[in-house]
Amino acid sequence: MSQSKVVVITGGSRGIGAKTAIEASRRGFGVILTYNAHPEAAHDVVAAIEAAGGKAVALALNVAAAASFADFRADVQDALAKTWNVSHLSGLVNNAGYGLFQPIATVTEAQFDGLFNVHLKGPFFLTQALLPLLENGSSIVNLTSATTRVATAGVAPYAAFKGGLQVLTRYMAKEWGERGIRVNSVSPGPIRTELGGGLNEDFEALLSSQTALGRVGEPEEVARVITTLLSQDSGWINAQDLEVSGGYVV
Ligand SMILES: NC(=O)c1ccc[n+]([C@@H]2O[C@H](COP(=O)([O-])OP(=O)(O)OC[C@H]3O[C@@H](n4cnc5c(N)ncnc54)[C@H](OP(=O)(O)O)[C@@H]3O)[C@@H](O)[C@H]2O)c1
Repeated sequence: MSQSKVVVITGGSRGIGAKTAIEASRRGFGVILTYNAHPEAAHDVVAAIEAAGGKAVALALNVAAAASFADFRADVQDALAKTWNVSHLSGLVNNAGYGLFQPIATVTEAQFDGLFNVHLKGPFFLTQALLPLLENGSSIVNLTSATTRVATAGVAPYAAFKGGLQVLTRYMAKEWGERGIRVNSVSPGPIRTELGGGLNEDFEALLSSQTALGRVGEPEEVARVITTLLSQDSGWINAQDLEVSGGYVV
């Protein structure tokens, strides 16, 4: 690939997004990755991609701030022109997110709204804002979660909004199919990242015991699936949710 195919990955500074940025570059995509609170981590990802011979740009983005998305689109257009000399995107990964472990009885309205803004409203309006830049035949991947299928204690609003994102995925696929744009979601099971404070030994042992393959997943294992969905290897996969969990609670 000539790196004229460029993808945006939100939350590309750490965890699954960072590994997806590196894998996408390894497979020949140019990468625009975003960061929120950790610019230095994003710049480390860019440096790793460049050291391996790829091209990447890191841009600031708060997915909860829908009013900033028009400016973000202008930043993306600028990066496309300056770094790759192209005007269109070939893919978008709505990956940015955070976790909250708290029973429904104690969740505040502010906590609820915060999760809603990042996990459902953000992907909705960010994808809308970037739609004019997405070329016909491009691929969108939305990160949801196996907690949409398994009612894991303490993650109700998070899981409910991820469930909403799975539904939105099918509606996007339907509306944009005429442009050849594919839209799928990936639902990881427990993955070794810093989400929700990360895994301690006891929690990891519990999650491993609930997983058919007997361990938690690694972010690279999710990144490979996301990147395959971005590529034409998955050209006939559309409007699907793919759980990537090693068989979590089956
Ligand atoms: N890990 C799991 O077990 C698991 C399971 C199911 C689903 N998922 C989903 O997979 C996705 C990635 O999670 P992860 O495990 O890789 O998490 P992570 O390691 O905690 O990384 C989260 C990423 O999202 C970014 N981010 C957080 N809040 C943001 C905001 N308001 N605006 C923009 N960016 C924001 C962070 O950027 P900064 O660091 O720059 O702030 C970071 O790059 C999330 O959507 C998560 O819900 C994860």
